[in-house]
Amino acid sequence: MSSYMVTGKKEVLICGGSFDPPHFGHLKLLRSALRFLKPWKTHILVSHQTPLKNPSDTSPQDRLKMTQLAVKQTLPSPLQRNLIWDLFEIKNKRKTYTCQTIRHIRRLYPHASLYLLMGSDCLSDFKKWKRWREILKECTLLVGCRPGFASPKSKVLSPKSYKSLIRPRTSDLGPRTLFLPGVFPDISSTQTREIIQNGKIPHAIPKSVWRWIQKRNLYGLHIHLWLRKKLKRDRYLHTLAVARLASQLAERHHQDSRAAHLAGLLHDAGRSFSLRQMADYSRRHTLEVPHQKEVLRRQPILLHAYVSAEIAKKHFSITNSEILNAIKHHTLGSSSMSSLEKVLYVADIASEDRGFPEAKKIRKVAFRDLDQALLEAVQTKIRYVLSAGQWLHPQTILLWNQYKNHR
Ligand SMILES: [Fe+2]
Ligand SMILES: [Fe+2]
Repeated sequence: MSSYMVTGKKEVLICGGSFDPPHFGHLKLLRSALRFLKPWKTHILVSHQTPLKNPSDTSPQDRLKMTQLAVKQTLPSPLQRNLIWDLFEIKNKRKTYTCQTIRHIRRLYPHASLYLLMGSDCLSDFKKWKRWREILKECTLLVGCRPGFASPKSKVLSPKSYKSLIRPRTSDLGPRTLFLPGVFPDISSTQTREIIQNGKIPHAIPKSVWRWIQKRNLYGLHIHLWLRKKLKRDRYLHTLAVARLASQLAERHHQDSRAAHLAGLLHDAGRSFSLRQMADYSRRHTLEVPHQKEVLRRQPILLHAYVSAEIAKKHFSITNSEILNAIKHHTLGSSSMSSLEKVLYVADIASEDRGFPEAKKIRKVAFRDLDQALLEAVQTKIRYVLSAGQWLHPQTILLWNQYKNHR
């Protein structure tokens, strides 16, 4: 049965997203929509940048390739027949709103019925979308229910009950909303990225997508491989815990959580060196370490932060100076610390793997008041250094005085 026969109009399905990376949630939704709607054409659009989301670190070309691989591997061939890989948003090379995409599709098919595919998680903030009334006027929302989000007040439909699908279902967006039968898996690209960034293999993506991620070293995979190879297991796990907390704190304090995560991952890269290697590396790369001579003589381990920043720059081509400074200053701090520097300094002391009692308290304070957490972190460090009878770096004393004076 063609869609033309059902409605008297040709039906065009629009499936867009950042697909960063594409996962089984996306694929199941698309497969279900294709089976139930049997559209005449389906346009798949990978975004250049999605409004209401942080810019992706993964290029649109990589996200497009992963989506093509995922569709090719998982969709039955008959369902792939009328798919069109639409580059409208990628060619736009900037943030594209859905209303602009809908206008583009409308220009291509002036007389077709348009269906916009989405998960019910998007439905809850649909009214925040630009020109959402215009979108509703032009097309019907075809919605897949995700656990915990809006769902139709109806029984689950079987594939045979397609006709009842096109009957309007209850939704506060009115009759232009149709719900697909069934519930779609609770998978998100954010979770999938986090799994990769925690050094594990994600099971929610097709094998072909995982192979592409490995081939192209996406989502910091090469950094994880390097860290796992070079660091002791405890140090690697500490690194993951710091990256996780830094990213959460950055999000809480309206900073770039991806930058914080990356800084957390690389903050102890220099610990892969012995003390002698750190000293040699610092000399060879003429690293500027405050009170360098004394550091070399009394506490060479302090070099590791500066070495880590250099490894981030030279080995992993990190050019973002905020990230590099956060890594460089995660042990001694600096006279004018940026929010990202504070986040990493605190995350390093208060990460979940830290066994000392102050860590938990500082972690809690950090979500409320970053400067107070920083002060408590410096105090904890000073107490530890003094009780161990070690040399206290002058920068730490300066940091304590500076923040104590401002509280
Ligand atoms: Fe460190
Ligand atoms: Fe650390």
